[in-house]
Amino acid sequence: MKEEKNPIEYRTPDESVVIKTELILPAMANLRNNLQGGQMMHFMDIAGALTCRRHSGCEVATVRVDSIEFQYPVKVGEIVTITSKLVWVGRTSMKVKIRAVSEDHKIRTCKLTNVAYFTYVALDEEGHPVEVPRLLPQTEEEKADFEREQREYEKRRQAPGV
Ligand SMILES: CC(C)(COP(=O)(O)OP(=O)(O)OC[C@H]1O[C@@H](n2cnc3c(N)ncnc32)[C@H](O)[C@@H]1OP(=O)(O)O)[C@@H](O)C(=O)NCCC(=O)NCCS
Repeated sequence: MKEEKNPIEYRTPDESVVIKTELILPAMANLRNNLQGGQMMHFMDIAGALTCRRHSGCEVATVRVDSIEFQYPVKVGEIVTITSKLVWVGRTSMKVKIRAVSEDHKIRTCKLTNVAYFTYVALDEEGHPVEVPRLLPQTEEEKADFEREQREYEKRRQAPGV
């Protein structure tokens, strides 16, 4: 009997979205009572890794912090909601957009405080990169994000180390 290759799997960005909520405690803050930047990056890294695990079904490693912006400080006592969503998937690598919104629930206001892009690689049991399902962008925005990131990926492959 002829051996069939596994069919290519596709998943949409919505299928692996992760939303994570944190209360900011004093131990997470600096001397100005603001959430430490490194702590925010840790929250974001976990959310991004969970999105990639959901998409790939594999262990993942962070290989690149593409960008991170700190637009407003987050105060102790505020609630932060971190949303992580895939914008691009290659053969074994996955790029995630991560947004953090802080909420002062006493005065019922929300602010977009951070936007970041992190890249992860799916790993097999020996720790080698492994192929992941492809991404099937649905909306016009998702399609535009995917095309932009594909161009970035191709540019980086032509100039490694950038
Ligand atoms: C993840 C790791 C095993 C990949 O090994 P590697 O030799 O770079 O593997 P490859 O060259 O085959 O690249 C695998 C994929 O990663 C991507 N990649 C590797 N380094 C990258 C970087 N710095 N930025 C963006 N993508 C990168 C490649 O483009 C490729 O993607 P593709 O398959 O979609 O085309 C290795 O880089 C590693 O162990 N890094 C350290 C990870 C780590 O410790 N993270 C912190 C804790 S989670």
